[in-house]
Amino acid sequence: MDTRVVDHPLAAARLSTMRDARTGSAEFRSALQELTLMLIYEATRDAEVVTEPIHTPVARTDGYRLANPPLLVPVLRAGLGMADQAHRLIPEAQMGFVGLARDEETLLPTPYLESLPEDLSGRSVFVLDPMLATGGSMVYTISLLTGRGARDVTAICMLAAPEGLQKMEDSGLPVRVVTASVDERLNESGFIVPGLGDAGDREYGSV
Ligand code: PRP
Repeated sequence: MDTRVVDHPLAAARLSTMRDARTGSAEFRSALQELTLMLIYEATRDAEVVTEPIHTPVARTDGYRLANPPLLVPVLRAGLGMADQAHRLIPEAQMGFVGLARDEETLLPTPYLESLPEDLSGRSVFVLDPMLATGGSMVYTISLLTGRGARDVTAICMLAAPEGLQKMEDSGLPVRVVTASVDERLNESGFIVPGLGDAGDREYGSV
Protein backbone atom coordinates (compact mmCIF):
# COMPACT_ATOMS: atom_id res chain seq x y z
CA MET A 1 0.00 0.00 0.00
CA ASP A 2 1.29 3.41 -0.93
CA THR A 3 1.51 5.79 2.05
CA ARG A 4 2.58 9.33 1.30
CA VAL A 5 3.61 11.44 4.29
CA VAL A 6 3.46 15.14 3.51
CA ASP A 7 6.33 16.39 5.66
CA HIS A 8 6.40 19.98 4.40
CA PRO A 9 7.34 22.57 7.08
CA LEU A 10 4.00 24.37 6.66
CA ALA A 11 2.16 21.07 7.11
CA ALA A 12 4.19 20.36 10.26
CA ALA A 13 3.36 23.82 11.63
CA ARG A 14 -0.42 23.40 11.07
CA LEU A 15 -0.34 19.90 12.52
CA SER A 16 1.45 21.23 15.61
CA THR A 17 -1.34 23.76 16.11
CA MET A 18 -3.87 20.94 15.91
CA ARG A 19 -1.92 18.74 18.33
CA ASP A 20 -1.54 21.49 20.94
CA ALA A 21 -4.11 20.96 23.71
CA ARG A 22 -4.33 24.75 24.21
CA THR A 23 -5.69 25.31 20.66
CA GLY A 24 -9.39 26.27 20.73
CA SER A 25 -12.06 25.05 18.29
CA ALA A 26 -11.95 27.97 15.85
CA GLU A 27 -8.18 27.84 15.48
CA PHE A 28 -8.29 24.04 15.27
CA ARG A 29 -10.80 24.18 12.39
CA SER A 30 -8.68 26.75 10.53
CA ALA A 31 -5.53 24.65 10.84
CA LEU A 32 -7.49 21.57 9.71
CA GLN A 33 -8.72 23.43 6.63
CA GLU A 34 -5.27 24.71 5.75
CA LEU A 35 -3.68 21.30 6.18
CA THR A 36 -6.45 19.74 4.09
CA LEU A 37 -5.47 22.05 1.27
CA MET A 38 -1.88 20.81 1.43
CA LEU A 39 -2.85 17.14 1.56
CA ILE A 40 -5.28 17.42 -1.36
CA TYR A 41 -2.62 19.29 -3.33
CA GLU A 42 -0.21 16.39 -2.80
CA ALA A 43 -2.88 13.73 -3.37
CA THR A 44 -3.64 15.13 -6.82
CA ARG A 45 0.00 15.54 -7.84
CA ASP A 46 -0.15 12.62 -10.29
CA ALA A 47 -3.75 13.15 -11.39
CA GLU A 48 -4.45 12.68 -15.07
CA VAL A 49 -5.16 15.90 -16.96
CA VAL A 50 -6.89 16.73 -20.23
CA THR A 51 -5.13 19.21 -22.46
CA GLU A 52 -7.19 21.75 -24.35
CA PRO A 53 -6.26 24.88 -26.25
CA ILE A 54 -6.81 28.25 -24.60
CA HIS A 55 -6.10 31.77 -25.68
CA THR A 56 -4.27 34.09 -23.35
CA PRO A 57 -4.54 37.81 -24.14
CA VAL A 58 -1.28 37.30 -26.02
CA ALA A 59 -1.20 33.85 -27.65
CA ARG A 60 -2.72 30.39 -28.00
CA THR A 61 -1.36 27.82 -25.56
CA ASP A 62 -2.21 24.54 -23.84
CA GLY A 63 -4.68 24.63 -20.95
CA TYR A 64 -5.29 21.77 -18.50
CA ARG A 65 -8.09 20.38 -16.38
CA LEU A 66 -8.49 17.19 -14.33
CA ALA A 67 -9.50 14.30 -16.56
CA ASN A 68 -11.40 12.43 -13.82
CA PRO A 69 -12.19 14.57 -10.78
CA PRO A 70 -12.50 12.26 -7.75
CA LEU A 71 -15.68 11.82 -5.73
CA LEU A 72 -15.08 13.49 -2.36
CA VAL A 73 -16.42 11.60 0.65
CA PRO A 74 -16.07 13.23 4.09
CA VAL A 75 -16.67 10.84 6.98
CA LEU A 76 -18.90 12.60 9.53
CA ARG A 77 -18.44 14.17 11.90
CA ALA A 78 -14.76 14.97 11.88
CA GLY A 79 -14.30 14.75 8.09
CA LEU A 80 -16.86 17.49 7.57
CA GLY A 81 -14.21 20.03 8.59
CA MET A 82 -12.19 19.01 5.52
CA ALA A 83 -15.02 19.01 2.99
CA ASP A 84 -15.27 22.68 1.97
CA GLN A 85 -11.56 23.14 1.55
CA ALA A 86 -11.22 19.97 -0.56
CA HIS A 87 -14.15 21.15 -2.68
CA ARG A 88 -12.54 24.53 -3.13
CA LEU A 89 -9.46 22.92 -4.64
CA ILE A 90 -11.50 20.52 -6.80
CA PRO A 91 -14.69 22.52 -7.48
CA GLU A 92 -15.83 20.17 -10.24
CA ALA A 93 -15.87 17.21 -7.81
CA GLN A 94 -19.08 15.48 -6.75
CA MET A 95 -19.48 14.90 -3.00
CA GLY A 96 -20.94 11.97 -1.09
CA PHE A 97 -21.28 11.51 2.68
CA VAL A 98 -20.76 8.70 5.17
CA GLY A 99 -21.60 9.04 8.87
CA LEU A 100 -19.90 6.76 11.37
CA ALA A 101 -19.49 6.87 15.12
CA ARG A 102 -16.87 4.69 16.76
CA ASP A 103 -18.21 2.74 19.72
CA GLU A 104 -16.08 3.81 22.69
CA GLU A 105 -16.04 0.29 24.16
CA THR A 106 -15.62 -1.98 21.15
CA LEU A 107 -13.90 0.66 18.94
CA LEU A 108 -16.04 -0.62 16.05
CA PRO A 109 -17.65 1.88 13.65
CA THR A 110 -21.44 2.23 13.84
CA PRO A 111 -22.85 3.59 10.56
CA TYR A 112 -25.65 6.19 10.70
CA LEU A 113 -25.54 7.85 7.27
CA GLU A 114 -24.74 6.77 3.74
CA SER A 115 -25.35 9.21 0.91
CA LEU A 116 -23.38 8.02 -2.10
CA PRO A 117 -23.96 7.60 -5.84
CA GLU A 118 -25.33 4.09 -6.53
CA ASP A 119 -22.81 3.36 -9.26
CA LEU A 120 -19.16 4.24 -8.77
CA SER A 121 -17.85 2.00 -11.55
CA GLY A 122 -14.33 3.01 -12.47
CA ARG A 123 -14.44 6.13 -10.28
CA SER A 124 -11.65 7.48 -8.08
CA VAL A 125 -12.64 8.53 -4.58
CA PHE A 126 -10.97 10.70 -1.94
CA VAL A 127 -12.15 9.80 1.57
CA LEU A 128 -11.70 12.66 4.04
CA ASP A 129 -11.24 11.78 7.70
CA PRO A 130 -8.70 13.48 9.98
CA MET A 131 -7.94 10.33 11.98
CA LEU A 132 -6.90 6.83 10.99
CA ALA A 133 -6.71 5.04 14.34
CA THR A 134 -7.62 1.31 14.36
CA GLY A 135 -8.54 1.72 10.68
CA GLY A 136 -12.01 0.24 11.28
CA SER A 137 -13.86 3.33 10.03
CA MET A 138 -11.71 3.70 6.93
CA VAL A 139 -11.88 0.02 5.97
CA TYR A 140 -15.67 0.12 6.42
CA THR A 141 -15.96 3.23 4.23
CA ILE A 142 -13.67 1.93 1.50
CA SER A 143 -15.54 -1.39 1.39
CA LEU A 144 -18.78 0.56 0.84
CA LEU A 145 -17.17 2.43 -2.03
CA THR A 146 -15.52 -0.54 -3.74
CA GLY A 147 -18.81 -2.44 -3.29
CA ARG A 148 -20.33 0.17 -5.61
CA GLY A 149 -17.50 -0.23 -8.10
CA ALA A 150 -14.96 2.43 -7.07
CA ARG A 151 -11.66 1.67 -8.77
CA ASP A 152 -9.21 3.37 -6.46
CA VAL A 153 -9.54 5.16 -3.16
CA THR A 154 -7.27 7.70 -1.52
CA ALA A 155 -7.60 8.14 2.25
CA ILE A 156 -6.75 11.73 3.21
CA CYS A 157 -5.91 11.85 6.93
CA MET A 158 -4.19 14.34 9.20
CA LEU A 159 -2.79 11.51 11.32
CA ALA A 160 -2.39 7.77 10.93
CA ALA A 161 -1.49 5.12 13.48
CA PRO A 162 0.71 2.22 12.36
CA GLU A 163 -2.03 -0.20 13.51
CA GLY A 164 -4.57 1.46 11.18
CA LEU A 165 -2.18 1.43 8.25
CA GLN A 166 -1.54 -2.27 8.83
CA LYS A 167 -5.28 -3.00 8.89
CA MET A 168 -5.71 -1.20 5.57
CA GLU A 169 -2.80 -3.09 4.08
CA ASP A 170 -4.22 -6.42 5.30
CA SER A 171 -7.65 -5.58 3.85
CA GLY A 172 -6.24 -5.83 0.33
CA LEU A 173 -8.50 -2.93 -0.71
CA PRO A 174 -7.30 -0.65 -3.54
CA VAL A 175 -6.27 2.24 -1.33
CA ARG A 176 -3.43 4.66 -0.82
CA VAL A 177 -2.98 7.00 2.12
CA VAL A 178 -1.95 10.64 2.14
CA THR A 179 -1.26 11.92 5.65
CA ALA A 180 0.70 14.59 7.49
CA SER A 181 2.12 12.11 10.03
CA VAL A 182 2.39 8.47 10.97
CA ASP A 183 2.32 8.62 14.75
CA GLU A 184 3.79 6.19 17.31
CA ARG A 185 0.91 3.93 18.31
CA LEU A 186 -2.60 3.58 19.72
CA ASN A 187 -3.18 3.66 23.47
CA GLU A 188 -5.48 1.27 25.37
CA SER A 189 -8.49 3.53 24.63
CA GLY A 190 -7.82 3.48 20.90
CA PHE A 191 -6.49 7.05 20.77
CA ILE A 192 -3.53 7.91 18.56
CA VAL A 193 -0.34 8.74 20.55
CA PRO A 194 0.83 11.48 20.58
CA GLY A 195 -2.12 12.34 18.30
CA LEU A 196 -4.35 15.35 18.84
CA GLY A 197 -7.21 13.93 20.92
CA ASP A 198 -10.67 13.45 19.42
CA ALA A 199 -10.80 15.45 16.19
CA GLY A 200 -14.63 15.63 16.07
CA ASP A 201 -14.81 16.95 19.63
CA ARG A 202 -12.07 19.47 19.01
CA GLU A 203 -13.82 20.78 15.88
CA TYR A 204 -17.39 20.78 17.13
CA GLY A 205 -17.41 20.14 20.89
CA SER A 206 -18.23 16.86 22.63
CA VAL A 207 -21.69 15.36 22.25
C1 PRP B 1 -13.12 9.21 14.82
C2 PRP B 1 -12.37 9.68 13.59
C3 PRP B 1 -12.52 8.53 12.64
C4 PRP B 1 -12.50 7.35 13.57
C5 PRP B 1 -11.12 6.76 13.56
O1 PRP B 1 -14.46 9.45 14.68
O2 PRP B 1 -12.83 10.88 13.06
O3 PRP B 1 -13.74 8.55 11.91
O4 PRP B 1 -12.82 7.82 14.87
O5 PRP B 1 -11.07 5.63 14.34
P1 PRP B 1 -10.80 4.19 13.76
O6 PRP B 1 -9.69 4.29 12.76
O7 PRP B 1 -10.38 3.42 14.98
O8 PRP B 1 -12.07 3.66 13.17
P2 PRP B 1 -15.54 9.29 15.86
O9 PRP B 1 -16.10 7.91 15.87
O10 PRP B 1 -14.92 9.77 17.14
O11 PRP B 1 -16.72 10.19 15.40
P3 PRP B 1 -16.82 11.78 15.16
O12 PRP B 1 -16.08 12.06 13.90
O13 PRP B 1 -18.29 11.98 15.03
O14 PRP B 1 -16.24 12.49 16.35
